[in-house]
Amino acid sequence: MDAVRNQACHSFGDFEREAIYRAIFTRRDVRSHFQQRPIDDAVLARLLTAAHHAPSVGFMQPWNFIVIRDPGRREAVRDLFLAARSQELTHIAEERQELYRKLKLEGICESALNLCITCDRRRSEDSPLGRWHNPQMDLFSTVCAVQNFWLAARAEGIGVGWVSILNADALRDLLDIPDHVVPVAYLCVGHVSEFATRPDLERNGWASRLPLSDLVMSETYAGAGEDALKAAANTIAGRG
Ligand SMILES: Cc1cc2nc3c(=O)[nH]c(=O)nc-3n(C[C@H](O)[C@H](O)[C@H](O)COP(=O)(O)O)c2cc1C
Repeated sequence: MDAVRNQACHSFGDFEREAIYRAIFTRRDVRSHFQQRPIDDAVLARLLTAAHHAPSVGFMQPWNFIVIRDPGRREAVRDLFLAARSQELTHIAEERQELYRKLKLEGICESALNLCITCDRRRSEDSPLGRWHNPQMDLFSTVCAVQNFWLAARAEGIGVGWVSILNADALRDLLDIPDHVVPVAYLCVGHVSEFATRPDLERNGWASRLPLSDLVMSETYAGAGEDALKAAANTIAGRG
């Protein structure tokens, strides 16, 4: 009977729905626990296909996927990270700098491979459907592809870590990326020995998840209301 009702309202069956939420709630940004054993090309192809099925403004599909395996090139990217981290450190509140220095914020050389997901800002340049007023929508679309990749990877037992502490121009030079293409995400990808149950930055006392009910607004920005919805959100958070 349930199956009939689910079909009628287009929702997934319980098992499939739980699987989707499981991927969402257990996805982690992975920096430690990478294993270097290679990722099967068939698996990587599935992850890239998931990314390629992301929504995109005007269906422009602005992304490309640069697969980086060469250890020398990865060391060069790691050096870019180290330089960028030193620069970023000076902008971190003084009382948090010691903690910042201790955080592991990349797995560039330890992972099986790196993946740079780019956005070609000239793709469909002559027909900017959905981008004439909001040209940044191509970048947003590319981020949707990143998230699809990340969630599919979790379902395949593959860890992904996003490294944004990089100078984009230096990264462009290293990967021969032309000026009209933006490197949106630099990802470390690989099998892992474990997925942490909580975000690393939470476990290390850097930040914690904000209560969802504090972020929900009604009708206008900062508009009060939706109390029943907020209570329902708090109940779910209490169970998690
Ligand atoms: C746009 C973006 C950039 C990020 N850049 C970095 C980074 O440079 N280094 C890092 O360790 N984590 C980075 N992260 C991961 C976040 O720190 C992580 O998502 C957050 O702490 C929550 O943890 P979780 O992803 O495990 O839930 C980035 C995440 C996003 C979405």
